[in-house]
Amino acid sequence: MRSTSIIFIFMFLYSCTANTDRSTNINSENLNLAQHGMVSSADSLASQVGVDILKKGGNAFDAAVAVHFALAVVYPMAGNIGGGGFAVYRTKGGETGSLDFREKAPLAANRNMYLDTAMQAIDGLSTKGHLSVGVPGSVDGMIRLHEKLGSMPFADLMVPAIFLAREGFPLNNREAEYLNLYREKFLELNDSTIPFINHTPWQAGDTIKIPALAGTLGRILQYGRNGFYSGPTAHYMLEEIKKGLGIMAQEDLDMYKSKWRDPVEGTYRGHKIISMPPPSSGGVALLQLLKGSEAYDFKAMGHNSVAAIHTMTELERRVYADRATFLGDPDFYPVPVEKLLDAAYISERNSTILPDRKTNSQDIKEGHVDIIESTETTHFSIVDKEGNAIAVTTTLNSLYGSKVFVEKGGFFLNNEMDDFSIKPGLPNQFGLIGGEANAIEPEKRMLSSMSPTIVEKDGELLMVLGSPGGSTIITTVYQVILNVIDYEMGMQAALDAKRTHHQWQPDKIFYETDCLDSLSIESLKNLGHVLEIESKLGRVHAILVREDGMLEGGADLRGDGAAIGY
Ligand code: GLY
Repeated sequence: MRSTSIIFIFMFLYSCTANTDRSTNINSENLNLAQHGMVSSADSLASQVGVDILKKGGNAFDAAVAVHFALAVVYPMAGNIGGGGFAVYRTKGGETGSLDFREKAPLAANRNMYLDTAMQAIDGLSTKGHLSVGVPGSVDGMIRLHEKLGSMPFADLMVPAIFLAREGFPLNNREAEYLNLYREKFLELNDSTIPFINHTPWQAGDTIKIPALAGTLGRILQYGRNGFYSGPTAHYMLEEIKKGLGIMAQEDLDMYKSKWRDPVEGTYRGHKIISMPPPSSGGVALLQLLKGSEAYDFKAMGHNSVAAIHTMTELERRVYADRATFLGDPDFYPVPVEKLLDAAYISERNSTILPDRKTNSQDIKEGHVDIIESTETTHFSIVDKEGNAIAVTTTLNSLYGSKVFVEKGGFFLNNEMDDFSIKPGLPNQFGLIGGEANAIEPEKRMLSSMSPTIVEKDGELLMVLGSPGGSTIITTVYQVILNVIDYEMGMQAALDAKRTHHQWQPDKIFYETDCLDSLSIESLKNLGHVLEIESKLGRVHAILVREDGMLEGGADLRGDGAAIGY
């Protein structure tokens, strides 16, 4: 029987049970409890795909593969096959690990590729278009994840995504709004025939079908890695890359390999924290923040009190300054992880924190930045009935990545090259500064802030979490952990709580709408802080194992995702 017929049979069987209703199942008390398994992702259709896999007997890792491919269809602003990401897992037996499927710089990349002859950065070159594309890692990553930890046939995990791409999925309000907002940007780089461009403005409820993506996913189902990194899909990608100033070549696709890495691990008030090591800065920075936090009684200070925000800000200021200097791809630069996580180093670093006065970021380390742009990335968390757990954060970098759409393949390509330090001291789109550790080199992975994280208590699984938000990912994950451990909140409450963010440069506290009253704002100003309102910080998808053994799913109300359990 021809393999395309096999895909149709799978699709037919799947279509008998498929549900493309996007309503969420958060109950009236806003608590989402389940006994057996839970999936929390940025899209209810993707969460449902994951839960269906768990119900069919798949484990958390099978569900992760299915959710990742489903998000690549129904959440095109960040879900992807043309991007990359990181996964942190913990098996039911307590074994932990992490998978790095971050994009890499193409072989033809060089450190000055975004600078003009006067060594000035050329506006927009690293953030949009064909030259901003890093070699995608997601497909290789999902295949390796399945090979090592999956239990169901790979084809069963691909069929839901193929079905959604072929039969279509309804847009929600936010997606319709963003597609309308980005229409002109899409048209700058693509033909008007791509499926995300409509003649009239998109409305919530409109259906989008992406048959070309169904074809690509079908090739991945049939040929595995080769269905993406060689053959027609690779040809379509490179054909597109050649239309612009792109440098990615077949050799880059052939050479791409995701990597298993030992996670970074540490403790916080007796809990074990397991997070992503470099080339993400997320795990190291998170552990530095938590270790530094142990010296303070946040509960006594009060949640989002002036004292708590001042203290978190001062800790964050120092950690982000370290990030700018020391963090990069460990395969290219000797990242001093041990030193950065050394208790004496952290305590010495924080010894200059004063309770009644802010420190000046210029005195911590030089730098100069002035903007933070919004960003997209997406995170999902899964726990299965055996207690296997996985946290996956994946991204195209900006919303819809480089905006370059591989029309014959049906997917966007990332603009992850902007996460390199394109010129020492020059901020990237998140206002983050970098130096030598994160300079561009062929085959190198760009530094990330993604922080998929797992927390254990007394040797048992406690929490799985992560967030999108570029530079704000780390402080978002940090605050959710404080909310659960220090402030004893449940999962949804810990996500609902308002957040602040500081990243050393710019020297400003960003705070969410309604986070601070005017008195608190005045008090923080009196300590010397500059404040700026930000509508939303982070969008966490997380799961908590409660004391009664129930799983509490958290889906951040800042987005339209859903935690679905059974
Ligand atoms: N592209 C955002 C990050 O990796 O941190």
